[in-house]
Amino acid sequence: MESTAPDPRNSGSTKGGSRRAGRTTVRLVLAALLGAAVFTALFLFGRHHTPDYTRTLFGNSGTAAIALKAQLATGILALGLVQLGLAVALYRRLPRQRRVPRAVPRSHRLVGFVLFAATVPVAVHCVMAYGVQLGSARVAVHSVAGCFFYGAFVAKVVLVRSRRLPGWALPLAGGLLLTSVAVLWYSAALWYFDNYQLP
Ligand code: HEM
Repeated sequence: MESTAPDPRNSGSTKGGSRRAGRTTVRLVLAALLGAAVFTALFLFGRHHTPDYTRTLFGNSGTAAIALKAQLATGILALGLVQLGLAVALYRRLPRQRRVPRAVPRSHRLVGFVLFAATVPVAVHCVMAYGVQLGSARVAVHSVAGCFFYGAFVAKVVLVRSRRLPGWALPLAGGLLLTSVAVLWYSAALWYFDNYQLP
């Protein structure tokens, strides 16, 4: 059920309210710190790992592995766009939308899980085969976006469990995730599809 009256528990004007506001701040800081820790751990691992260019992906190596990764990345981007549509529906922002059908939050969770699971084999191949490389702008942007994606994912999972977040927190975390998926796709999959160059 929805309530339109302002909730004094959210105002921070009472003892309980300020305690809750404090807890929300702790949750936001924790999400940011955990996200930063995951980013840093992946980045440092990728920088210090010795690349293994013979690494396979589901039995594919060389160009076949690159093609498979580009296709998987395209599927991941498509799922990201589905997530965006579902998020818009969750916030009741579709034209003439009055309510949120029950299937919407469930689908958002399911698609998010599938999206994340699909990134894992691709990213493991990236990290083990190449590590984090900073040699050219495209590859550096891709490597940093890859580490950022996992940091942002962890931050979003921490945030989604809190009920009293400022309204901007989840859209920001979700928007950053989708942006990093788009950057990953552009800097590697599109590069491959466009004959090893960027449009
Ligand atoms: C920690 C995360 C990641 C790191 C450090 C990373 C790093 C890299 C590097 C260094 C390359 C080689 C680029 C080149 O030489 O041209 C690469 C290629 C690629 N990456 Fe990633 N990546 C990560 C995550 C991801 C994710 C999540 C996706 C998909 C959504 C992805 C998709 C691709 C694709 C399609 C290629 C081109 C195929 C290939 O060269 O094997 N990467 N990655």
